[in-house]
Amino acid sequence: MKKIKDTIEKIEKSCMQSCSKAKTADELEQIRVEYLGRNGKIAELMSTLKNCSLEEKRELGPLLNTLKTLLQETYETHKKRIDAKSITKQLFDVTAYRPHQLRGSTHIYTQLIHELSTIFISMGYTVADGPEVETEYYNFTTLNIPEDHPARDSHDTFWLCSPDRLLRTHTSSVQAHEMEKTTPPLAVFAPGRAYRSEATDATHDFMFTQGEILLINTDVSISNLLATAQEFLQAFFGKNDLKIRVRPGYFPFVEPGLEIDGSCPFCTTGCAICKKTGWIELLGSGLVHPKVLQYSGIDPEKYSGFALGFGIERLAMIKYGINDIRLFHSSNISFMNQF
Ligand code: DAH
Repeated sequence: MKKIKDTIEKIEKSCMQSCSKAKTADELEQIRVEYLGRNGKIAELMSTLKNCSLEEKRELGPLLNTLKTLLQETYETHKKRIDAKSITKQLFDVTAYRPHQLRGSTHIYTQLIHELSTIFISMGYTVADGPEVETEYYNFTTLNIPEDHPARDSHDTFWLCSPDRLLRTHTSSVQAHEMEKTTPPLAVFAPGRAYRSEATDATHDFMFTQGEILLINTDVSISNLLATAQEFLQAFFGKNDLKIRVRPGYFPFVEPGLEIDGSCPFCTTGCAICKKTGWIELLGSGLVHPKVLQYSGIDPEKYSGFALGFGIERLAMIKYGINDIRLFHSSNISFMNQF
């Protein structure tokens, strides 16, 4: 009788210890079988009761039943602990492969800026960045667009509440920042967002991305500008035979100002993209106006330069056949997935 009571105590202790050490559902199941199974330790003890007297049975029976219930409850508690752990593990296993999971990738904007930067870096340019919240001085004045100049109106500016602050209307605003920072020679590519307070449609947006090129050195000529423009467009469209042509254009910060068209990368005889003309308007450009150099303390007698600007979405829309500029910041997953 004493021996059975000791055994009951021992079994209770060792079963509880084993349960709390168990780490996996399999380990716990083995413990359940060992103690509570049909041929387990409890069943074995129960069978020894057969040989006991009635009195002993009356005393030991309830003890054994209590032990069985206790071990059953201990098992259930640990089962819950282990199950909860393995569910958490499944939910947070970041390496788990899920066949139809959406995969992240860099945004088309990031890809384009990277691609354009690579082209200009290969041509010796550095990549520059400027503030999107600008002053009138950098967005207009240093670019030879004084107050009352009609070009200020045509920019549909978003004015901010703080006096003299606006959202830059073009990345040409980076020009003076760079010229102030570096003495020539300088060659920079400045990609980034620009803003205009105008109604949106398939080809216009209130927020868009531009690329600005500025090169200042001694003896810079139009032929440097044209060679750069052509090499850039050939690289971007992946067409070594792309040609350019120029038309006069007016931009207050360049003189002469030029509009550069590229030969249509998709046809030779005229298609929908080039509107049957064989040419597509791609870049604004010109030789830097002497006044622009003077604003940044660069001597126009000694130095000259060219500037070139383009809409990054516009170039990408032509290259990839995108028909609505607003898709770029639409969070439209099927649009994004194409790139
Ligand atoms: N900043 C002009 C715009 O947003 C684009 C441009 C035209 C940039 C001529 C230039 C340039 O550097 O030379 O419309």
